[in-house]
Amino acid sequence: MGQQKTLDSFLVFEEGIRRGENIKNNAVFRLDYIPEKIYEREQYRVIGREIGVHMGKGAGSHLLISGTRGTGKTLTVRYLLEESRKFAMERGIDLEVFYIPVRRFRNTYSILKEITSSKHGTPYDALTEKAKKKLEEKKIILALDELEFLEDMEILYFLSRETNAMVLAIVTNPLWVKKLEDSIQSSFQPEPIIFPPYSATELFEILRQRAELGLYEYDEKGIEILSAIVASRFNGDARYGILALKHLGKENKWDEETVNSAVAKSVRDLELLLLATLSHESLDLLSILATHPDGMSTTELFHTFRRKWDVSKPTFFTYLNDLDKQGLIGTGGGRRGKPYIVTLLLQYPELIKEELKRREVK
Ligand SMILES: Nc1ncnc2c1ncn2[C@@H]1O[C@H](COP(=O)(O)OP(=O)(O)OP(=O)(O)O)[C@@H](O)[C@H]1O
Ligand SMILES: [Mg+2]
Repeated sequence: MGQQKTLDSFLVFEEGIRRGENIKNNAVFRLDYIPEKIYEREQYRVIGREIGVHMGKGAGSHLLISGTRGTGKTLTVRYLLEESRKFAMERGIDLEVFYIPVRRFRNTYSILKEITSSKHGTPYDALTEKAKKKLEEKKIILALDELEFLEDMEILYFLSRETNAMVLAIVTNPLWVKKLEDSIQSSFQPEPIIFPPYSATELFEILRQRAELGLYEYDEKGIEILSAIVASRFNGDARYGILALKHLGKENKWDEETVNSAVAKSVRDLELLLLATLSHESLDLLSILATHPDGMSTTELFHTFRRKWDVSKPTFFTYLNDLDKQGLIGTGGGRRGKPYIVTLLLQYPELIKEELKRREVK
């Protein structure tokens, strides 16, 4: 019996080894991986040229970069920032670039603190003075990614009025900028650049390059099928393509059925990745919603949530807003005195419990 068990587990291990054998480099399949060369499209050139203007005369326009999920906004900007840093160094241009993920640095204070590498508790005025000085010393390019998460708009006012920094603002919805007050809009007037969803042909190029970097063996026909599915069913969101490619690479099977099941796994992977970034409060909110498949009114949800978390209504709505921005919940109704109905938008709601359990173990 004992002998049998050992043999079984040996077989399982061997299967695992075989499955992993085709992976040359796991890091390539992380969504924040930056390849040495990226697939270039028109927007890449436009942004690159404007960065060039800034490196030259220090007069690059602010840009408002928008596009739906997985259209390469973050990668393109991070890549160009890194390249411009190298270029400036080679040409002796005094340039400093910053990439600020606004989801992590949500207000003016924390962004200025990050830029100036200041200690926590530095008074606001001292911080703005320090930032002004630092941003005056050289040419500065500052990318603010996922700007929708910004809680106060002062930073945009400050950067456009008080400094010569070039701002690359990244959002999913180009109409977001309309929300800004007139006083900010009059000084922060970015040029719009829109990233359209990837076509199947573009996705094929991106995924073939990833396969080349990350796998020993792959099949172009299988990647073609995958690219077509992602373009038509996932609005060209490259994230699904990359996550599915990893599953295909592991199995090293490329027929249509395996591609379809890899795509289903990628949906699950992405939902789990999103849940892993949430606070415990937000996860609890989602787990309440998971028990109400038809949705809940905000009042009902607030009362249930309050049984565990003693938060004010505004704080509760901040959580809801955040989840909404991340596409994890949907809100409807709310007109003519009807209450807002909140619904969960996850395809795999059981992942919420899985994530909560994972945290307990940690
Ligand atoms: N031009 C490209 N060349 C190579 N890889 C790409 C390219 N565009 C996107 N990718 C890959 O696709 C994935 C999604 O890209 P990215 O994160 O830049 O999208 P995004 O537009 O910022 O999406 P979101 O709105 O969700 O933040 C990443 O893993 C990225 O590496
Ligand atoms: Mg992004």
